[in-house]
Amino acid sequence: MPVHITSRRNGFFAEIEGVDIARGVDTSALREIEKALDCYAVLLFRGQSLDQAQHIAFGRQLGPLEVSLLAARDGRDLSIAKEISDISNVEPDGTVTAVGDRRRMTALGNRLWHTDSSFMKVPAKYSLLYGRNVPKRGGNTEFADMRAAYDALSKTMKGRLTNLVVDHSIVHSRAVIGFAYNEKELAARPPAEQRLVRFLPGSGRMTLYLASHASSIRGMPVPEGRMLLMELTEHAVQRRFVHSHRWQPGDLVVWDNRATMHRSTASDPNEIRDLHRVTVTDYASSLDQPLE
Ligand SMILES: [Fe+2]
Repeated sequence: MPVHITSRRNGFFAEIEGVDIARGVDTSALREIEKALDCYAVLLFRGQSLDQAQHIAFGRQLGPLEVSLLAARDGRDLSIAKEISDISNVEPDGTVTAVGDRRRMTALGNRLWHTDSSFMKVPAKYSLLYGRNVPKRGGNTEFADMRAAYDALSKTMKGRLTNLVVDHSIVHSRAVIGFAYNEKELAARPPAEQRLVRFLPGSGRMTLYLASHASSIRGMPVPEGRMLLMELTEHAVQRRFVHSHRWQPGDLVVWDNRATMHRSTASDPNEIRDLHRVTVTDYASSLDQPLE
């Protein structure tokens, strides 16, 4: 199947046409998609019609999949496969999740800039987010190009950051918005260490690896490290590095978590926003990957 790639931005975010993912993606199209991910970091496939099995099957073509953290949640919707993260405000009975519900509270953390699963030893490589039912207004997903953000740093700053190691924890990012996990949840969410600067073998580019989960820098007093992380984040999310995706039902957006940060924007809490995510895991911790 011939793949058509259009980027309306300079080297970041592209729309892919000519691919009907539900029918299966052949090897040559898959190679084109992987090359486009290396180049543009975020890809949009419009007008897709995917059930869970088709969504999962496409994810598997891109690599091994994560099992969703939400799969262990009490009272979760058992009709949702364990490889699917239910990024929705919909309860199993079809009603909108109530304001104040714990699930809604922890999901609010997705409004902070982050990269998926950086708090796990082996973090996410790609995320595939599928829009099933999207709000009329708001609820965008915004992406920051962390390669461009890295490139724009001074030579001195790049040198200072090269070998730094950062602690990432979802407990930290949720504490920022005032959400506390219970003891059982805390035990299931230990922190992980990741490199602050990473090398992307597919493009040969360097990238800043940051997230709201990043809490401290190894070898630095916590306030020193945290200020540096906050300043770097502020630098990386300048509008010149950001693309804001306005959802349409049937959109599948696939991004490289190593090269980007993302966040959702606010929408009417009484309006349904129903997205499913399949997550491709990386092959190793960023600490165990080469820097060139
Ligand atoms: Fe996310």
